[in-house]
This record gives sequence, C-alpha cells and structure tokens, in this order.
Amino acid sequence: QKKQFFSTGLLAWYRRHKRDLPWRRSRNPYHIWVSEIMLQQTRVDTVIPYFNRFVEKFPTVEALAEAPEEEVLKMWEGLGYYSRARNLQSAVREVRENYGGVVPDTKEDVFSLKGVGPYTAGAILSIAYNKPEPAVDGNVMRVLSRYFLIEDDIMKGSTRVTMEKLAKELIPEGAAGDFNQGLMELGAMVCTPKSPSCLTCPVMEHCMGREAGMEEALPVKKKA
Ligand code: ADE
Repeated sequence: QKKQFFSTGLLAWYRRHKRDLPWRRSRNPYHIWVSEIMLQQTRVDTVIPYFNRFVEKFPTVEALAEAPEEEVLKMWEGLGYYSRARNLQSAVREVRENYGGVVPDTKEDVFSLKGVGPYTAGAILSIAYNKPEPAVDGNVMRVLSRYFLIEDDIMKGSTRVTMEKLAKELIPEGAAGDFNQGLMELGAMVCTPKSPSCLTCPVMEHCMGREAGMEEALPVKKKA
C-alpha cells in the first residue's frame, strides 16, 4: 500500500498544485512533443517563451514539415543543442509522410521517430493520449529512488528498466498524463536534488528514503 498511497497522493497533489505552463493548456500531441524536446536539456523558465513562439510560427505538423530548416533553427536560436531542432523537423516530416500528419499513438511508432527516446515517447503517449506508459527521466528516478529507497546506481540501464516497470505499475487508472506530470512536478518543485522540501511533500509520511534519513544521499549515481 506504499504504492497505492504514492499514486493517489501524488495525483491529487498535482491536480491541486500544478504550475500553469503553456503546454499544459494543450492536448495537441505535436505541441506536447515540441515541449518535451525543448525541456530535455533546458529549464522550464527558459523554454516557455521559445515554446510559445515556436508553436505560433509552426502551429501544426504540416507547418513545421514545410518550413525551411534555417527558419526552424532561427526559432531555436539560444536554446542550444540544435540537433534537437533538426531531428524534430525530420521526425515531423516522417509523421507527415507515414502517418498522414497525425502523431502516432503506439509505443513502437512514436519510439521509431528521430530524436524520440523512451522518455519522450512515454511523455507523448501519456500526456497527449493518456496511455499508461511510463516517462522516466532523471527527476523521476530521483523521486522514485527516494520514496521506495532504491539504492541501485541510476547510471545503469538495468536500474532504468526497474524504474520504468515500477513507474508503469504506479499509474492510476485513466490518469497517466496527470500522474506522469505529477512525478515531474514533484521532482522539479519539491523533491529537488539538494535540500528537498520534504515538509511540503504530499507523500512524505510513507517515504522510505526520508524514513532512513537518506533523502539527500539518493539517488545513487556512480561516476562513469
Ligand atoms: N520536464 C519535462 N517534461 C515536463 C513537463 N511536461 N512539464 C514540466 N516540466 C517538464
């Protein structure tokens, strides 16, 4: 019932406390996708204006697919990691050619798109389509490793697999998008890398990492 408590408590907390972010006002799978690519290596505050300008300039898969690459890169200027923009445009062209311009809604199809890894695929499927797929990134691994006191090295692929399995089991029926975003939100706002704000955490009373006094020591991350 550690799991039940976590899922229920986190979902209720997210629905009450979530930040009003521009991509959270949309269920458009293409917009969700753009936001997740931008958020991969860039902070939320930085992403917000870029996201708004980008989806205004390229509101649809069609619009981005047809745009000259230089215009796309220009909209990305300052965000860095420009391969993200190039891959996104290639992938959007794949969506136009192979899926009639509709972002696919299965794991195999989404995962096959250029620049879309397991995390991004899970985020698109859960947030845009509410499919019960995990979206595990570093923030989510930190939250799970603390609450469930998982001391495995998060640099290992096998740890990620364990975390993905756990994260999938935790998804409440019919609430994958909100639950996954709740995990991200808790990691960003409460269960932070340093000095986590445990006293405001909705699931503190069952957090095994805190109970063991190990919240700051987790997750275990060995040097490569
Ligand atoms: N980081 C990654 N995805 C995010 C999202 N959807 N909302 C806020 N932060 C995020």
